This record gives sequence, structure tokens and C-alpha cells, in this order.
Amino acid sequence: MPFQTQVVPSAPEAHRTPLLIVIVPEAARPDSLRPLDSQSGGALERCYGAGDFAGKKDETALLYPEGDRPRLLLVGIGKPDDLRSAIRRAAAVGAKRARTLGVPEAALFVTPEAGGSLSGREIGQLTAEGAAKGAWHFPDFKQPPEEKKPSLERLDLLASADVVAFREGHQIGAAIAEGQVFCRRLQILPGNHLPPRKLAEAAAELAHRFGHGITVLDREGIEREGMGALLAVAQGSSEEPRFIAIEYAGAGGPPVVLVGKGVSFDTGGVSIKPAQGMEDMKYDMSGAAAVLGAFEMLGRLRPKLSVVGLIPSAENMVSAAAMRPGDVVKSHLGKTIEIVNTDAEGRLLLADALSYARRYSPACVVDIATLTGAISVALGHTAAGLMGNNETLTRELIEAGRRADERVWELPLWDEYKELNKSEIADVKNTGGRAAGSITAGWFLREFVSGFPWAHVDIAGTAYTDREDAASAKGPTGMGVRLFCEFLLARS
Ligand code: BES
Ligand code: MN
Ligand code: ZN
Repeated sequence: MPFQTQVVPSAPEAHRTPLLIVIVPEAARPDSLRPLDSQSGGALERCYGAGDFAGKKDETALLYPEGDRPRLLLVGIGKPDDLRSAIRRAAAVGAKRARTLGVPEAALFVTPEAGGSLSGREIGQLTAEGAAKGAWHFPDFKQPPEEKKPSLERLDLLASADVVAFREGHQIGAAIAEGQVFCRRLQILPGNHLPPRKLAEAAAELAHRFGHGITVLDREGIEREGMGALLAVAQGSSEEPRFIAIEYAGAGGPPVVLVGKGVSFDTGGVSIKPAQGMEDMKYDMSGAAAVLGAFEMLGRLRPKLSVVGLIPSAENMVSAAAMRPGDVVKSHLGKTIEIVNTDAEGRLLLADALSYARRYSPACVVDIATLTGAISVALGHTAAGLMGNNETLTRELIEAGRRADERVWELPLWDEYKELNKSEIADVKNTGGRAAGSITAGWFLREFVSGFPWAHVDIAGTAYTDREDAASAKGPTGMGVRLFCEFLLARS
């Protein structure tokens, strides 16, 4: 059974559960927990009184009240600058702990002292998102099942006031959470389990589940379209490329187009990558996964706007048939590209998708891609890079990222940087050298943008993590799903 949350109108002391997660501020025992405490034989008072728990960020305390009262798990939020992010995170910490404890079900309560100025609607959304994030894991390839413990299947979100608004928020949060779960699963699947063909099947399955439109081009179809840059990336692999277009029509008018990089595995090609850490290049389809995650949300919430997802997908391999440094190819837009470095493959296939987007006369186009290692040099693993040609659009994305706690930070696309992509032999070359590597990649994409507002989100530093922490597992982060959901919902 997959993990699910549900809203239960109940005070914490009135709810029966094997584990009650209680989110608290950095302060003395909240007054709102008095009834729960007296029912628990003063377990909270003893814990706080002994100085064993202060409610700092990520701090937890597990209490075993006497009698048949549920175990209590206190989770602190500290003194946060961003309360929304703190509540989401605390829900994740609680859910992750519940999963490792091995309880099949649990309940979660945000004390009013912790929730502060947040509305019931916000708390409903944030706890649904956070809980799903914390509970996520991927045991599918482990056999026999690593853990004999039951897995956490249900988390009751207790709403003691504002129940209608709480439910509304929860519905939004749960839909976004499902999008993130969908995204993370695709992300973690290795290259041999999710070649372009399978990615397209996953997109088609998602589309059929919700009645989204879906078109998948195979190699022949891609040739007929004249997507020479996508074909160049694909030509070294025995895995066939795919070009995926998924469409959600929730309103008339020009659609928002989301473009996701779908490189199922990136060896670098002839400009091959070092062996160290190359296994992480299974995550090079994280942009595609984020786009599909957004379509999971769209299917569940059906907001009033139209959205198209475009996913160029290929495997970047080394072989006798692979593209070579120096090759010149003709893109879908008609511009010729000198391929100086075969490891700069993402911008190649994205170029063809950006050109394909013209046919929708889009309201705007946002692409998302694990595009450059340089973005981690600039921003680390804390924020994604943002570039674009339209200030209103970039501002919208920055705001959405703030709300979603998937931050994006803008880098400039000044004309001086454009020069770095000049080719001796073709219209443009696919690398601009080491300096400003993320920006020259952005400029390359911009060469294929014609007449619509466009933004580019570089998630190479944020799509996956090698750090396990209290709120989340190692591996895929689902970066981009919450960002896109907030962005799209604000436009609907
Ligand atoms: N997929 C990589 C970018 C990447 C690097 C993602 C590290 C995640 C972690 C991309 O295709 C790539 O190889 N970019 C090159 C560009 C260079 C050759 C101009 C890079 O960043 O080194
Ligand atoms: Mn590459
Ligand atoms: Zn790549």
C-alpha cells in the first residue's frame, strides 16, 4: 500500500493512534497540550521539566506515557524565519521517524503555538507535502525485504479547528505530494530500468490515468520533425530516443509549456565523464520527471489553465556510432550547431524541444534541466539556477520557489556571455568554455527561443542529494515539482 495522509477532525488527546507526532515551537510545553499531557500522565511535563527537549529545529523526543496512551513524538521547529518551510519540514521529520520506527499508521498534530500565523489551509497543504516527503523510500530492488517492520501507510493529520479550510489545503498538498512521489520514483530508476522508451511509457500511463493528451515520437517521428540535435545525442545509443508531448487542457487560451531534460543516462559520450560518481548520471532525466510530477498534480486538481509538457529523451552513450567533438548538426529550428563537447548534450536536445514549443503559441515556456555542474559551484545544493528573457516570468518563478521552498536564484544573461558560444564553422557551438558555464548554457538555450517569454531552471545541484538528513532520504529530491505546482496554481 502506498503512503497516504488524511484529515481527521480531532483534538490530539481524543485520537487513537499507535504514534502521535506533535509539532511544537522552541519554547516551554505549549499550553494547548495540557489536556494531552494530563491524559499521558504528565509525560510531556517530565520531558520538558528535565530539560530533555527544547523544540529546536529538527529536535525530536519520543515519549512512552504509562497505560495504553499512544507513544508521543515531539518535533521542534526552532525559531524559523520561514514558518511555512519549518512546518513542512517538521512534518517530514515526523513522518520519516514514524517510518523508521515501523508503525503502520500514525497521527500528526501541529500545535497552534507552532502554527502561529499560518491558516488551517496552509497547514493542511504543508503537512501533506512534508509528510509524503519524509515517508518516501524506495525498497523495490531490495530482496528479501530489508526491513521486516511494517511500512508506514497512513498518517492522520489532526485538524482541531478550521476543518473545511484544512481539508482544502490538504487536497492541494496531497496532489502535489503525489506529483513529487511520482517524480522521485522515476528519478531513482537506473539507466537500464528507465531508458527513453520506458520514460515515454510512464508518461503515457500517467496521461491515460488522468485523460491528458499524449503524443510520443519515436526515432522515425523525430527524424521527420527534423530534430537533428536530439538525434545527435541519441545516435550513440542502442536505446531509441523519444520525444514526448503531454497536454492538459483546463482552460482555453495559450498554454504554459514546461520542457524537461530527459537524458536517461549521461556518460558524457566521447567527451566521457570520469568514473567517480558517474552512476549519479541516472538522475539526468530529473527535469523530465519534474514535468511529469506537475502533470500528476494537474490531473488530480484540474486547475483552470492549459499546460503542455515537452520531454526530449535520449541516452548519451559512447559507441562507434556516437557523435564526435567537432560534428555539425542542424537543429529543429534550422540553426546549425557545432558540437564541441559531447557532454554538453542536454542543451542540444532541449534546443529542439524549445523550437518545437513554437507551435503552441505558448503563454510562456519554462525548461527544467540537470544542465551544468557549474550551477553547484555557483549556488551549491541550496538553490536552482534561474535564467530567462522576461522579468515578470522570472519574478513569478522566484516567488513560487519561495512558497514551495524550492528556491531559484537568477543569473544574468548579459550579451557579453552570448559571445562565448560563437562558432567558427556553425551558427553556434554547444559550449562556451569553463567561465560562467551555467550562463553560457542558458544563452545556448536562448538561441532557440523565438518570441515567447521563457525561463530556464538548472537543477543539476538540487535534483538529488548524497546527504541523508532528518527530513529526507538520500537520492532523488523531486526538485521542481513543488516549484512548478505553486507556479501553475498561482496562474490558474
Ligand atoms: N548532466 C550534466 C550536468 C550535471 C553535472 C548534472 C553534475 C548533475 C551533476 C550535463 O550534461 C553535463 O555534462 N554538463 C557539462 C557541460 C560542459 C561539458 C560544458 C558539465 O557541467 O560539466
Ligand atoms: Mn553531459
Ligand atoms: Zn547531461
